[in-house]
Amino acid sequence: MNSTNCVLIGFMGSGKSTIARALHKANSALILDSDSMIENNENLSIKEIFAHYGETYFRDLESKFCTFVAQNVRNAIISTGGGMPMFCDVKVMGRVFFLHLEFEEILERLSAEETAKRPLFQDKDSAFKLYQERLKTYQNSAHYTINANQSIQMITQEILEKLCI
Ligand code: S3P
Repeated sequence: MNSTNCVLIGFMGSGKSTIARALHKANSALILDSDSMIENNENLSIKEIFAHYGETYFRDLESKFCTFVAQNVRNAIISTGGGMPMFCDVKVMGRVFFLHLEFEEILERLSAEETAKRPLFQDKDSAFKLYQERLKTYQNSAHYTINANQSIQMITQEILEKLCI
């Protein structure tokens, strides 16, 4: 992967974990998923971390993840939590791909079970507000914006081409 990391950003439900797994299948690079690493390290779910310690504590863990990846990780696929670009400079981790979907498309993809796991997706109106507030930052934080309303195969291929693999 040119020794750089491939960093996936995007709103909750935009398919970051799915695309990370497809990229892994295509090129065997390891996946580091910030939410999963934080959950494992804390031995708590994201929902429990927010409930017990608050969002600021969670964002601090995300910043530490970002610094760790920038300093220590190469040739990996980095799947980020949806809010990370609002609080950290994600470009320090590698080539950044914004998986862009319209809010309506996100709603179609997220089941009630999936939204229940996400403390910042408790109701449609506040999630839409958050989506609108964040859109510019996602665009500005990315080297490439990818239309995520395509097949997994097409998205993966587009990312791999841009990484020059
Ligand atoms: C968040 C997104 C979640 C998770 C946390 C906060 C956000 O990750 O990091 O619930 O602020 O958008 P996903 O994007 O994987 O849902």
